[in-house]
Amino acid sequence: MKIDLTGRKALITGGARGIGAAIAADLASCGAELLLLDREAEALQATVAELSGGGAAVRALVADITDPAATLAAVQAETAQSGPYLILVHNAGITRDNLLMRMTQEEWDLVMKVNLQPLFWLTKELVREMMRERWGRIIAISSVTGLMGNPGQTNYAATKAAVTGFVKSLAREVGSRGITVNAVAPGFIRTPMTEKLQGEQIDRLKDAIALRRLGEAQDIAHAVAFLASEQAAYVTGHVLNVSGGLYM
Ligand SMILES: NC(=O)c1ccc[n+]([C@@H]2O[C@H](COP(=O)([O-])OP(=O)(O)OC[C@H]3O[C@@H](n4cnc5c(N)ncnc54)[C@H](O)[C@@H]3O)[C@@H](O)[C@H]2O)c1
Repeated sequence: MKIDLTGRKALITGGARGIGAAIAADLASCGAELLLLDREAEALQATVAELSGGGAAVRALVADITDPAATLAAVQAETAQSGPYLILVHNAGITRDNLLMRMTQEEWDLVMKVNLQPLFWLTKELVREMMRERWGRIIAISSVTGLMGNPGQTNYAATKAAVTGFVKSLAREVGSRGITVNAVAPGFIRTPMTEKLQGEQIDRLKDAIALRRLGEAQDIAHAVAFLASEQAAYVTGHVLNVSGGLYM
C-alpha cells in the first residue's frame, strides 16, 4: 500500500517545527502540495527551504492564528492564487500550564485562541470548497491529555477534549459529501514543546508507556498521512491515539 497525495493540496498550521514540520515532510513525500502556516517566520522559512530543496512544492504563510481576521485574509489571498486546500491539518498548539487555582484568565484564553478557536473559523473557511469538490480531509491534532486529563493542564486538556466533540459532530455534518473529519491524539512526543522535560521526569514517563519510549514526530506524521489518504476514505469521526500505549 502506497499513499499517493499527488494533486492534493494541504494547509498545515504550526508547520514550522516539531510535529507540524514532520507532517509536512510526510505529506510532501506522498506528493501533496503544501501551505505551511506559522507565526515563527525564521523557523518557517528554514523548514520550507529544506522541503523545497528535497523537491517538494511548499509555500510559507507567516500568520498568527490568535488574529483570525488577518489570518483568514492571508489564507484567502493564498487560495485565490494557488487554488483551494482540500486537506486541512490543524496542528498549531501551545501549553500555558498552571494549577487551576493559580491559572490566569490570560493563560486560559490564549490556549483557547490557539488550540481551539481556529478549528472553528479555519475549518469553516476551507470546508466550503471541500463541499463543492465533494472531497476533503480535516485532521486536528489533539492530545491524550484531552482523553485522560493531566494536573496543571485544565486549559490545554479542555481544548483537546473539545476536539473530540468537534470532529464527531462535523463528521456527521459533512460525511455525505465525501469529507472525513478525524483527530490524532499524540502521547509524549520529542519536540520543542516537550524539551523542558528532564532525565528523571522522562524515566518516570517511560514507565507509564507500554512501548517504553517517548514518541517521535514522525510517529504522528505517519498517522496523519494515513488519515489524509484515499485508503482512509472510510474512517471518520475518529480520534486516533498514538501514544505508545500511554493511554489505552
Ligand atoms: N509534543 C508533544 O508531546 C505533544 C503531545 C500531544 C499533543 N501535541 C500537540 O501537537 C501539536 C504540535 O505540537 P509540537 O510538540 O510540535 O509543538 P511545537 O511547540 O514544537 O510546535 C508548535 C508550532 O505551532 C506554532 N504556533 C504556536 N502558536 C501559534 C500561533 N499563534 N500562530 C501560528 N502558529 C503558532 C509554533 O510557532 C510552532 O511552530 C500541538 O497541537 C500540540 O498540542 C504535542
